[in-house]
Amino acid sequence: MTRRKRILVTGSAGRVGQGAVQGLVQAGHEVHGLDVRPTPGLPAAQVIFGDLADGEKLRTYFQGMDAVVHLAATPDDMVFPRQPPPHDTDNFLSQLLPNNIVGLYHVLEAARQTKLPRLILASTGQVVWQHVENGPWPLDQQTPFSPRYWYACTKVFLEMAAMAYSREHALTILVVRLGWCPRDQGQAQEIAQQERFQDVYLSPGDAGRFFARAVEAESLPLYSLLYCTSRPTHLIRYDLIPAKELIGYVPKDQWPTGALVDSSALSNPA
Ligand SMILES: NC(=O)c1ccc[n+]([C@@H]2O[C@H](COP(=O)([O-])OP(=O)(O)OC[C@H]3O[C@@H](n4cnc5c(N)ncnc54)[C@H](O)[C@@H]3O)[C@@H](O)[C@H]2O)c1
Repeated sequence: MTRRKRILVTGSAGRVGQGAVQGLVQAGHEVHGLDVRPTPGLPAAQVIFGDLADGEKLRTYFQGMDAVVHLAATPDDMVFPRQPPPHDTDNFLSQLLPNNIVGLYHVLEAARQTKLPRLILASTGQVVWQHVENGPWPLDQQTPFSPRYWYACTKVFLEMAAMAYSREHALTILVVRLGWCPRDQGQAQEIAQQERFQDVYLSPGDAGRFFARAVEAESLPLYSLLYCTSRPTHLIRYDLIPAKELIGYVPKDQWPTGALVDSSALSNPA
């Protein structure tokens, strides 16, 4: 039986954050949530209204935690591909830079200064986008970067900064390239329409199981990089074997289980 751990989930009000909170609570851990929005599913005393921008406060929140699951971020580009004017704009300066780059800096610094035992960071398959589309599959840790756009570039930065911090400061950091956990009905429709998206679908339930295993696994190398999806429907696009070997993660769900959408409304022309 695994020891009950104290875990902080950043971005706990979000789509993946809610799955992580639920999975960790179900696994018996003491879960605290940090978000700029209210987090459901936790006792009020374990909910922190906080912004990644406040590095000093982050340090106090990290104190005494066994692990931090860092999910708070801007989770995509605003517009991709760029549109002609007047929509020729992006969210790099307004959102990605403060939340995904400066916010990550504060998270890594808080982890270093508090000697956090374990940090888990969310990356994305969008960092290897050309290969998600064209193979060769399954993609693994050796697949070269081919970021989709600005959002993916922030996650390349995250992976490289995590590697540097783990080495320089002997911090244990696990980076996970998450599959697609749709945030709304429109995204669920997109997944329904393309087999390649169904293969990299990630249910909130499997996300929760992954994070529970990630905090419970006995020993981890200083830096590790894993992929996490639910069970592929057609083709294994991400190599899930290292996640099984390192932390014992085995997905249970398959598209569209847990998509939290009205499946009768999903059209699948395939
Ligand atoms: N959902 C997916 O398909 C997917 C796929 C790959 C990676 N990811 C990554 O997983 C993480 C969670 O994504 P999601 O889909 O749940 O997104 P989401 O938008 O549903 O949740 C993100 C949460 O972070 C919070 N947040 C953002 N900036 C913050 C800040 N500065 N301080 C405090 N809280 C802040 C938001 O309020 C939100 O509740 C992100 O890092 C994202 O890049 C998501």
